[in-house]
Amino acid sequence: MNDSPERALLVGATGYVGRHLAERLHGDGYVVRAVVRDRGRAAAPGAHGAPGLGALVDEWVVAPKGAADLGADVMAGVDRVVSALGVTRQKADPWDVDFRQNLRYLELAEQVGVDSFLYVGVMNAASGTSGVSRAKHAFMEALARSHVAPQIVNPSGYFSDLTEIYDLARRGMAFGLGDGDVRLSPIHGADLAEFCVSRLADGPGSWDVGGPEVLTYRDVVRIAFDALGKTPRYVSVPRRAASAAVWASDRVSPRAGSLTRFFLEGMQTDSVGEPHGTHTLRDYYATLSR
Ligand SMILES: NC(=O)c1ccc[n+]([C@@H]2O[C@H](COP(=O)([O-])OP(=O)(O)OC[C@H]3O[C@@H](n4cnc5c(N)ncnc54)[C@H](OP(=O)(O)O)[C@@H]3O)[C@@H](O)[C@H]2O)c1
Repeated sequence: MNDSPERALLVGATGYVGRHLAERLHGDGYVVRAVVRDRGRAAAPGAHGAPGLGALVDEWVVAPKGAADLGADVMAGVDRVVSALGVTRQKADPWDVDFRQNLRYLELAEQVGVDSFLYVGVMNAASGTSGVSRAKHAFMEALARSHVAPQIVNPSGYFSDLTEIYDLARRGMAFGLGDGDVRLSPIHGADLAEFCVSRLADGPGSWDVGGPEVLTYRDVVRIAFDALGKTPRYVSVPRRAASAAVWASDRVSPRAGSLTRFFLEGMQTDSVGEPHGTHTLRDYYATLSR
């Protein structure tokens, strides 16, 4: 990079992608300012092989309530904002986090006039009916209208999420909807981070991105069983069972309904992005079986 390093504000820094983003930003010479809820947890290694942030972050902002705790000073000296902030397994409303918190960061970024705002969203958010998809899509629409250079990266499934298929295979049986012929191009967090950081100086844009391979869900199951040296056992769940599961989880709670819808819609819709990176799912699963 140039002699005077740029400063990147990273939000969602403690997640699977956030940690890989910190590593790539740090490696590319950015001054990394990270917003975290708990500094001790942030410094420890993350799940699924994601790195600890201890040596990767130059400036810490500890905000237990997230963006609500912060004012424009969090943007002081910031050139670029990178957000991988979103609800996955956390107990929170996606409208509070994916939409409102990201919008708050965007408004603060607009106040001080940062050069760009990169957001890691999700593929097919525009057609999704879950609260998660709708909240993400609403934020993307707000970002696309911003005068800071909007950059929207929509990834296919992460290797971290596909660990669940490996865990099912270890227990001897993996479930899937129908024939399992829906296609995805799963991506490792490090490859996604490399894609994002290498786009930062490119100006406004929107990208659908995946890893180097296009796989069906059924392929993913086979690769997981192969890694364990077992014969694949795929149990096909009828697609109509998906509607019944959504109906039932809607009655448990709005959050359960939203997550179930997000998960099941993901299993019924192709999510294949521009191929990127070098990490294969086979190699990732091999690391899990050691
Ligand atoms: N998993 C997939 O296959 C996949 C595919 C495409 C897109 N995505 C999207 O990509 C983004 C990153 O995913 P990921 O797997 O890296 O997620 P993750 O590991 O759950 O990380 C999410 C980040 O958001 C923060 N966060 C969540 N709820 C919060 C709250 N209430 N207040 C403040 N911070 C909060 C988390 O902080 P804490 O660590 O403090 O909880 C963490 O830093 C998400 O928006 C996800 O939906 C995921």
